[in-house]
This record gives sequence, C-alpha cells and structure tokens, in this order.
Amino acid sequence: MMNRRPNSCRSLRSTFSLSIVVVGALAVISAGVLIATTSILQRTTSDVAAAVESVRLVEEAEIGLLLHARAKDAVIKRDIESELRDSLASAKRYVTSASERRVLENAAASVETYLQASRRADSVRDPDAEADAFAALEQLVAINLEHTRAAHEEALEWNDIANIAGVVLGIMILAIAITLMLWLRRRVIRPWFALADTVRRFGEGERTARAEENGPLELQDMSKRFNTMADSIASQREAQVAFLGGVAHDLRTPLSALALAVDMLGPDDPLPPEPQLRRTLAVIARQIHHLERMVGDFVDMSTIDTGKLALDVDYHDVRMIVRDAVGLFSHTDAGAERLRVALPRNPCLALCDDVRIGQVVTNLVSNAIKYSPATEPIAVAVDTDESDVIVEVTDRGTGISREDHRRIFEPFRRVGSRTAAAGTGLGLFNVQRIVEAHGGRIEVESVPSEGSTFRIYLRLARASATASVAASHARS
Ligand SMILES: Nc1ncnc2c1ncn2[C@@H]1O[C@H](COP(=O)(O)OP(=O)(O)OP(=O)(O)O)[C@@H](O)[C@H]1O
Ligand SMILES: [Mg+2]
Repeated sequence: MMNRRPNSCRSLRSTFSLSIVVVGALAVISAGVLIATTSILQRTTSDVAAAVESVRLVEEAEIGLLLHARAKDAVIKRDIESELRDSLASAKRYVTSASERRVLENAAASVETYLQASRRADSVRDPDAEADAFAALEQLVAINLEHTRAAHEEALEWNDIANIAGVVLGIMILAIAITLMLWLRRRVIRPWFALADTVRRFGEGERTARAEENGPLELQDMSKRFNTMADSIASQREAQVAFLGGVAHDLRTPLSALALAVDMLGPDDPLPPEPQLRRTLAVIARQIHHLERMVGDFVDMSTIDTGKLALDVDYHDVRMIVRDAVGLFSHTDAGAERLRVALPRNPCLALCDDVRIGQVVTNLVSNAIKYSPATEPIAVAVDTDESDVIVEVTDRGTGISREDHRRIFEPFRRVGSRTAAAGTGLGLFNVQRIVEAHGGRIEVESVPSEGSTFRIYLRLARASATASVAASHARS
C-alpha cells in the first residue's frame, strides 16, 4: 500500500487569490510610478518651454536696448522704448520661480533707469546705465538657462527612476509568474496525475492502491475522499467474505443437526420407537424452522438494502400486534415464564404494516430472550405520548457497551461473545430499516451486565382516525 503523506499546503484558491493580489499591487505601483514620471516630465517640459520663451523675450529686449542706444530719431526711440517695455512685461508671464521674478524686476528697473537716464542726457549715451541694463538682462538669461539645465537634469533623473522601476517591477512580475508555474507543476499537476494514476490502477483491480494526500488542499481533500472510498470498499469486501464465512458456519449447524437426525432414519434401518421418532422429527422441524428464519432474514436484508421494501399500511392497534407477536413465544419456556406484557386500556392506533411491525417486535423479544439469562424476566410494554406509540422491550441481560450502541444496527454486526447465542447479525438491521420506513425511529438504552431497553416510536394516528376505526370496529 502506498504511504499517505499528509502535507501542510495552501489551497489552490488562496494561492491564486494571493498571486492576483500581489500582481494587482505591482500593477498599481507601476501605474503610480508611470503617472508620477509623466507628470514630472510634463512639468519639466513646460519649465523648459517657459525658460526658452523668457530667453527669447530677454534677447528681444537686449536687441531693443542696443537699437535704442544707437537710434537718433526721437520717434523711433519712443517706439523702441515701448517695444522694450512690452517684451519685459511679456517675460513676466513665463516666470517660474521667486528668484527669477526678483531678477526680472531688477532687469526691468535697470532698463527703466537707463531709459530715464537716456531721456535726461538728451540723446547722449549713458554707458553706465546701458551696461547695468545689459548686465541685468544677461542675469535674466543666465537664470533661465540655469532653470533649463535643472529641468533637464530632473528629467534625466526621473527617466533613470522610471527605467529602474520598470525593470524591477517587470522582473518581479516575471518571478511571480515563474514561481506560480513551478508551484502548479510541482504541487498541482504532478499530484493530480498521481491521483489519476492511482484511480486508474484501483479501477483495474489493484485494491491496495491509495492516493498520496499531498498537493493543494482541494487535491488533498479529493485524495482523502478517494482513500476513504477505497478503504470502505476494502472493508465491505472483508465484510462480504466474513459474511459468507458466517453464513456457511451458521448453515452448517442446522444442516449437521438435520443430517444426524436423518441418519437415524436410514432406509435400511428399522424405524426407532415412536417417542424417539417424534423427538427426531421435532429436531428436524426446529432446524427447518431455524433455516427458514435465516433465509427469511437474508431475503429481507437484500430487499431492504436495495430499497424495495413494500409496506402494506393500514390503521392498526399496536397493542394487538404486540400481543400476537409475544404469543408466538407462548409455547417456549421463556414465553411462558419470563415474558411480562403491559398493555394500556385504550387502543394505540398507528398507520403501519402489521406484519412488518410484528416482525420487529418478534426480533426484539427474541434478542431479549437470547441475550439474557433464562432466569431473568423480560418486560414488553406499549405506551403513547402526544405524538407516538412507543413499544418497549426490556431485559436484564448481558447489555451492550456504549461504543456498540450504533454498531449493532449494521448488517452482520454481532458484538460481545458471538458463541453465546446463534444468529446472523441481521435482526436489528432489518428492525431499524422497517421502523424507519414507517417514519418512526428506534433507540437503545443499555448498560453492560445490567440489561437493555429497546424502544421503537411509531407515529400515533390522529384522533379522527381513531374515532373512525373505533366506529368501523363497532359496526363489524
Ligand atoms: N437485548 C440485547 N442484549 C444484548 N445484546 C444485544 C441485544 N440485542 C442485540 N444485541 C447485540 O446486537 C447484535 C446484533 O443483533 P441482531 O439482532 O442484529 O443480530 P443477532 O441477534 O446476532 O442475529 P439475528 O440476525 O439472528 O437476529 C447481537 O449479536 C448482540 O450482540
Ligand atoms: Mg437478533
């Protein structure tokens, strides 16, 4: 038999959920990095564009300043002045930092100082004011160039970050995919094929084939179920073999008794005296009755087990059924001396098959007789509660241990000392199935060495049914 290795393992569902959560988290991180990078690159691009525009306007202003310094005509000078001021005013729109704003204001003030000075000097050039204005404008160009360089560097930095994040996240997703694939191969596909192979071998007749209980929890569960099923088939086979052995054994006893009895009546031998002949015939009759009962139980068992038990139900007074069943034992010593029957005064009507319920009572009484000493009394009682008719058979016999209370209802199950009394172990199996087929139930209370009480509950007929049955009895 293959060894079964219980293995602590994740379930397929939790593994897939975890993988999806991790891959989802990585996707969210990738999207975050992508959004951050693009918005930073977009900001640096607009910074660069603003700086380029500023530089263009400042250079326009520088050219304007040069032309102004060289122009002689007052009208032209005024035009240039207004263009100069316009350029510097437009440059304000492209300021991207406080320091740039300060430098721009400084440049505008220097240009204004130059223009004031040139107006006062009356077409005479003021080289100091001109140089100051140029220097201030150059400073503005320089700061914009500095901004462009910083934006370029920031863009490069973020480009590197985006590259690294992309590679790392890509590698992580690839690693997860590979790990999942390997896990599936090792933990799912291989055990899956092994299980399929075990099922195939079992189907081909290798009854000892059992699945290894490893892999994901779902597969472990499937393997466990297969193993339980295979164990149960194996134990059923064992039970069948034991049953056949038991049947052979149980049939041999009455058959040997019959053979012995018949031997005494050999064809060439003179007949024994009448009293002995009668005793021999009584033995033969008893053994035939015993064989008939055994065969009847087997037939019942197979009928019940295949679900073909047909009930012929009608309203019956359970007191009468019990009285008739107990009456069957009246010719025996036990029946005459040990059976104490307590029946209520009023009818106890139930919708049932009287023959089958009679069989149930006979079985319970016969067990009570078999499994208790010949000196002890057996009480049979009928009673009712608000919903049921209750039949109770109590003995002071060997009793049944707690762990056997359920097992005694299994077919061919005999507990305690099997040699003490003859039987096939089918009686209580049939009893339980018959009672349940009536919608009733059976319970047992028993203490080893003290005795047992078997109780069956059958649904009590409604008051209206009781009245109509009583009326029909009165008419007949
Ligand atoms: N009243 C009882 N007292 C003690 N043990 C009992 C009693 N009734 C049943 N048992 C135990 O339960 C087992 C199953 O009972 P069951 O009636 O099914 O089979 P059986 O009596 O052995 O054979 P048969 O098929 O002939 O009835 C018995 O073998 C016996 O061990
Ligand atoms: Mg029995």
